[in-house]
Amino acid sequence: MTAPGEPWNTFAEGDNLEVLQRLRDEGAAYDLVYIDPPYNTGNDFAYSDRIKGDRTTTRHQAWVAMMRPRLEQARELMSATAAIFVSIDDNEVAHLRLLLDEVFGERQFLAQVVVNLNPKGRQLGKGFATNHEYLLVYAKDARTCVLDASSPDAVDPDDFPLVTPDGRHYRHLPLRNTNKKFNPATTPTLHYPLWGDPESGRVRTEEFEGASRIEPVFGDARPAVWRWSRPLVDARPDDLVCRRIKGRLGERADIFQRDWLHEGRRKKLRTIWLAEEVGSTDTAVAELKAVLGHVFESPKPTALLRRVLQTMPSDGRVLDFFAGSGTTGHAVALQNVADGGTRTCLSINSAEPTRAGSNARLAGYATVADITRARLRAVADTVGGGFAER
Ligand SMILES: C[S@@+](CC[C@H](N)C(=O)[O-])C[C@H]1O[C@@H](n2cnc3c(N)ncnc32)[C@H](O)[C@@H]1O
Repeated sequence: MTAPGEPWNTFAEGDNLEVLQRLRDEGAAYDLVYIDPPYNTGNDFAYSDRIKGDRTTTRHQAWVAMMRPRLEQARELMSATAAIFVSIDDNEVAHLRLLLDEVFGERQFLAQVVVNLNPKGRQLGKGFATNHEYLLVYAKDARTCVLDASSPDAVDPDDFPLVTPDGRHYRHLPLRNTNKKFNPATTPTLHYPLWGDPESGRVRTEEFEGASRIEPVFGDARPAVWRWSRPLVDARPDDLVCRRIKGRLGERADIFQRDWLHEGRRKKLRTIWLAEEVGSTDTAVAELKAVLGHVFESPKPTALLRRVLQTMPSDGRVLDFFAGSGTTGHAVALQNVADGGTRTCLSINSAEPTRAGSNARLAGYATVADITRARLRAVADTVGGGFAER
């Protein structure tokens, strides 16, 4: 949980390994870690994305050797309920997955999300037009991790086409459990008759005038089970409706749940995240351009980070130790404003010199840390939440 009065954004300049060690000495703890390390593509952006091997180590081994101690430190800084999200692409995803298995343990693996950040696909070079990268998600301890793999933004109002006279939106879901694994043999307590009247829609556990007896059945008339227990039906009869349906074996009455589009409703996140949901590298460049100019080649879109933030409690302490242009801190401020959260974020970036002649250098940013700092300051001025350096 965040301490009251702390600014939403704090920046620390330095090699992240040293800063992480310092944080450990201070007894700091974080609830959510997001990192976007150099992908080892061999390109030079505003920062170096080339980890060189030598005669005895391949460039992959050199990259893993750079990442391992940093991930080990990060793990020690994570609270028992925490999760870590790591962005990566095809260059190092295989090595990173094995490294995370080693540092966190295979059992702490939560997901390998495909993120469609380049919807047009890479047009350079031969071969496939790659249009995705990955997010590897691990828990510090999957048994105590509080990550909720759902989001309010993933809910599509079009999925709730029915409207009550007082304007509430809902959809009908079969009350029968459609999963064939559940049947009267496996779940006998959920196989019981209900009483329903398709004229009035009324449903009860006891017989009433005009009602017919309805048993849960599969489409081929084999016996099935309900999803709700008898006491739940008794407690919420108005959330059920009896309707006539045309089944494979002719017309019959069946029971449906009224599933409401209520405030705060969330939807389970799938493991493919589309650019139309989380933004793209192009939208991320445009976002950064609006704040500082075109001074960083590969920022992440704030919508991607906001989706990550939404999986964890809104008072979490967030850590990004490869902060780059400061997208995570920006997203924390935007999400706090959107949902009234009190997240705080520590961003770390080294004072890596920007490339001579790059947009960043021409705009007066001598180091990447200068870019991070400038964005987080601008965010505090425009979005709010304050900014501090440590
Ligand atoms: C891919 S970029 C991160 C981009 C960021 N997610 C964004 O949206 O702007 C990786 C960043 O890590 C920084 N970096 C690389 N090695 C570092 C280290 N040892 N300590 C601190 N920062 C480092 C680089 O300067 C670069 O800014």
